[in-house]
Amino acid sequence: MSIVRLARPEIQSLHAYDAAEQVDDTIRLNANESPMAIAGDRFRRPLNRYPEVRPQSLRRALALRFGCSPDALLVTRGSSEAIDLLVRSFCRAGEDSVLTTSPSFSMYRHYAEIQGARIIEVVTRAEDDFAIDVDAMLAACEASTRLVFVCSPNNPTGTSLPRPQLEKLLQERGDRSAIVVDEAYVEFSGAPSVIELLDTYPNLLVLRTLSKALAFAGARCGAVVGPNSVITMLSAVQAPYALATPVVECVEDALQDEQIALAEAAVTHIIVERQRLIREISAFGFVKKIWPSDANFFLIEVEDAGEVLRCCQDQGILLRYFGGALASCIRVSVGSTDENDRLLHALGMLQGTGA
Ligand SMILES: Cc1ncc(COP(=O)(O)O)c(C=O)c1O
Repeated sequence: MSIVRLARPEIQSLHAYDAAEQVDDTIRLNANESPMAIAGDRFRRPLNRYPEVRPQSLRRALALRFGCSPDALLVTRGSSEAIDLLVRSFCRAGEDSVLTTSPSFSMYRHYAEIQGARIIEVVTRAEDDFAIDVDAMLAACEASTRLVFVCSPNNPTGTSLPRPQLEKLLQERGDRSAIVVDEAYVEFSGAPSVIELLDTYPNLLVLRTLSKALAFAGARCGAVVGPNSVITMLSAVQAPYALATPVVECVEDALQDEQIALAEAAVTHIIVERQRLIREISAFGFVKKIWPSDANFFLIEVEDAGEVLRCCQDQGILLRYFGGALASCIRVSVGSTDENDRLLHALGMLQGTGA
C-alpha cells in the first residue's frame, strides 16, 4: 500500500491548482500579468511574468545532484517548507501524531503545533551520546502516528542514525507511518544519502536543503524526495509559483560544476575546522564534555553556560543556547578560520579569568 493512503482524505483527493498555461513564443493574455518588464532584464525569465508553477529545470538539476529521478523530487522553499507540507498533508488536527526524538530540530514540533497534530518525543540521553534508540521509537509509535521524523545527523547533537537502525525502523513501521529522514547536514558526515534506499522502502521520504553544505541559506531552497505518488500529492498542496524567478535562476547557476566544487571544498574545510575547534575547546578547564559531530556544528557542555554565552557575546560572537534538558550545553556552529580563531581567543580569555 502506498503511504499516500496515510494522508488526510481531503488531501489525497486534492487537485493541483489549475494555473494559466505558459507556452514559449506566444502572446500571453491569459494570466493578468503586466506586458512590461519594468523591473529590468537581469533575469533569463522576465520578472513581469509568473515563474513556472513548479520549476522543472531546477527540479531536474536537483534530482541529478541528489541522485534520484526528477519525478521523485519536489523543490521547496528550504526544507522547512517540506516539513510544513508533510505535516499539513498527513496529519488530521486533533487526531494524528508526529513522532520524533528529543532534543532535535524544533520545527517538527512547531509545524505539528500549527496543524494541531500531537507530537510524541522519544528522549535521547547525553550520557549515551544522544544515540537514537530505534526500539524506543518503535515502542512509542501509536496507531495515529502518520509521520516519524529522523534528523540524521541530528540538530543539535550532531548524532547520525546508523543505516541498519534506520532500516529496522523502515521495515517495522511498513505502511503504518512515513519515515522522514532529514538530511540537512548529511554532506558533513561523509556518509552517503539514504536517498539510495528509496527503491527498497516505499515508506521513506528524505529532506535535503541547499542552506548548509551548498551555502545557499539566503535563497531558501530545499527538496523533499520520495515516491512519486507522495510528491504529486505534496505538489498540489504547495502554493503555486512558490519558487520565485530570481531564486530559481540563482540556484540553477549555483549548481554548475565550478560552484559545486567550491562548495565541496568549503565542506572539507569546515570538517577540518570542526575537528580543530573540538580539539582546542576540549582543553579549556570549564568545558566538561564535547560530543562528536557529523555536522557543521557541535555541542559542548560547560560549567556555566550563561557565563560562556555572555563572554562570547561581549566579544561579538553569538552561540546557540537551548535550555531545558540542554541547560548546561551550547551549540557551536563552525565558522571561517578567522571566526573560529576569534572564538578560541574569547574562550581563552574566559579560561584566563578562571571561570
Ligand atoms: C535539521 C534541519 N532541518 C531543516 C532545516 C531547515 O533548513 P532550510 O529551511 O533552510 O532548508 C534546518 C535548519 O537549520 C535544520 O537544522
